[in-house]
Amino acid sequence: MSKHEVLLLEDIHPAATEVFERNGLVVHTRTRSLGEDDLIEALQGMSMVGIRSNTRVTEKVLASTPDLLAIGAFCIGTNQIDLGAAAREGVAVFNAPYSNTRSVVELVIGEIIALARRLPEKTQRMHDGIWDKSAQGSHEVRGRTLGIVGYGNIGTQLSNLAEALGFRVIFFDTADRLAHGNARRVGTLDQLLAEADVVSLHVDGRPGNAGMFGAAELAKMKPRSLFVNASRGMVVDDVALREHILSGHIAGAALDVFPVEPKAQGDTFESALRGLPNVILTPHVGGSTQEAQEEIGFFVSGKLTNFIHRGSTALSVNLPDVAAPALESGSRVALLHHNIPGVLASVNQMLADRGANVSAQYLSTRGEQGYVVTDVTTELPDDALDGLRQADSTLWLRTYRPGS
Ligand SMILES: NC(=O)c1ccc[n+]([C@@H]2O[C@H](COP(=O)([O-])OP(=O)(O)OC[C@H]3O[C@@H](n4cnc5c(N)ncnc54)[C@H](O)[C@@H]3O)[C@@H](O)[C@H]2O)c1
Repeated sequence: MSKHEVLLLEDIHPAATEVFERNGLVVHTRTRSLGEDDLIEALQGMSMVGIRSNTRVTEKVLASTPDLLAIGAFCIGTNQIDLGAAAREGVAVFNAPYSNTRSVVELVIGEIIALARRLPEKTQRMHDGIWDKSAQGSHEVRGRTLGIVGYGNIGTQLSNLAEALGFRVIFFDTADRLAHGNARRVGTLDQLLAEADVVSLHVDGRPGNAGMFGAAELAKMKPRSLFVNASRGMVVDDVALREHILSGHIAGAALDVFPVEPKAQGDTFESALRGLPNVILTPHVGGSTQEAQEEIGFFVSGKLTNFIHRGSTALSVNLPDVAAPALESGSRVALLHHNIPGVLASVNQMLADRGANVSAQYLSTRGEQGYVVTDVTTELPDDALDGLRQADSTLWLRTYRPGS
């Protein structure tokens, strides 16, 4: 059997190559992204492609690359991929939604301390040649109350690190979340705003969160409190925040995300928050560290390898999710199909007709597709599967052996 080949674009971290090669895949790497036609040409014969945010995988690319089985987005977002077209072609897409959470938390902790010590102003004065040694307006964070809005992957990690620094942590989340350490859940956002010396937003990007933090919420924050947003730009009303900083009600703010962000490197950054005192502005780099890149490299290559070798679609962003474990013995049949009645019955009928004993079966559906992975205790002759392979409901059928 020939080895699967993978094309990695956009200078993906070498951790990915390491994982693929260890698993017997042939890796080709390129440092840059490719345009549509070049991508189509480069993907002939490739089973998988790894990209970051600059490579667009369009419907045309997907329709013109018959060998392609899976796409790895070695980043968080997947907007650059036509996910619907990929699903229709049966091409699995994986990304790395959580690999950079620690990086975000470390940036936020650093920023809170920097704001509490008014470092943006102090460092600017030094660069301007002004020696201005004063304790005025500078505070320790120990004993202060940090209010975390959105207690998910990032919010909970921030909670743990902040407590280690001596913060009292309170949080508000619309979902039921277990408090970490000594953190205390509060029942409403208003309650959090009334108590917190520092408010840090870590909510997700659901549409209802657009504009959730505007003039009314800022007005409810404690006088001279600090504000941080490293979640989504659309959540905060930047013009209202500007007014609260200029009035002195908010003593400092750190923003890593903005309602409108420049598209390309070097583009001008327009914002109502430019030029304000004690405000840290960063170009959406919360998750951008070498460590996060390495973690992303390991994570996505692991998901792709499990897909190609075991048929596992665990954490795929577009296909039904089946976390198929490694196959120890016998054989495995994986069938991606249109989500219509009777497919599971036909798989099981085929196996019963062959006298095959099913040792495990996993099924998941997502929208218009279903995915069933069946392990049997013996090897099946390949022609046993022809009927299923040719069924109108079938998108693809693949078989796996132990150690394949
Ligand atoms: N700045 C960066 O570079 C960077 C990097 C990674 C993630 N992020 C962003 O950080 C945010 C948090 O990421 P995560 O992985 O922790 O997400 P998550 O999905 O694990 O957690 C989000 C939490 O927010 C809660 N929530 C949603 N809306 C809420 C609301 N209106 N009020 C209170 N709670 C609400 C959810 O219930 C959930 O617990 C996301 O928006 C993500 O896109 C930014």
